[in-house]
Amino acid sequence: MKVLGILGSPRPDGNSSTLAKRFLKTAKGRGAATRIFYLNDLEYKGCQGCYSCKGDLRHCILEDGLQPVLNAMHEANIIVLSSPNYYGDVSGQMKKFIDRTFSHLTVDFIKSDKKSRLPSGKHAVFIVTQASGEDTSKDILDRYYKLKHYLEFEAMHFLLGSELTYTKRVQERPELLAEAANLAHALIR
Ligand SMILES: Cc1cc2nc3c(=O)[nH]c(=O)nc-3n(C[C@H](O)[C@H](O)[C@H](O)COP(=O)(O)O)c2cc1C
Repeated sequence: MKVLGILGSPRPDGNSSTLAKRFLKTAKGRGAATRIFYLNDLEYKGCQGCYSCKGDLRHCILEDGLQPVLNAMHEANIIVLSSPNYYGDVSGQMKKFIDRTFSHLTVDFIKSDKKSRLPSGKHAVFIVTQASGEDTSKDILDRYYKLKHYLEFEAMHFLLGSELTYTKRVQERPELLAEAANLAHALIR
């Protein structure tokens, strides 16, 4: 079992990264091989819309810091994505990454039942933290639930941490840390 963490906050020990790392640590404790990428540490561009990945190339033409992340997605059984809510969306770092996953879509993804070049059976875990209350982020979760359809994840699991400001840290919210650990327990048997 391989678990890949793709962390979208510029704060490596911030709220969303802490929840993602709690999931990964629990997964490791259950025998999974884990790997983490901190997007903020990588040099990469957003999708160029060149459609080279829909021609002969079959992968992203850009050779930059995101290449190993996109490659690692092929092997992972569980992909953990985490991000703070920035102005009602994921961070810029995470959005640029998500756009680049377009390179994983098949040439005929709009019409074909086979939409993704990634092997089937993967689970995704999508973690978002925010300062405001729970009712304000449904649109973020709805928006990125599209990834399940296009990347053909077996299932997509959401973990939302609300009322987590810069100073109110997730370490003071044991129920959220437990939710991350429990999800890892449930997915890695
Ligand atoms: C640029 C910026 C924009 C933000 N926008 C929102 C927002 O629209 N709604 C919200 O609830 N919190 C917002 N926040 C607060 C963060 O989402 C929140 O503190 C989050 O828990 C930080 O996660 P992190 O520690 O993983 O970086 C914003 C913070 C920053 C720095």
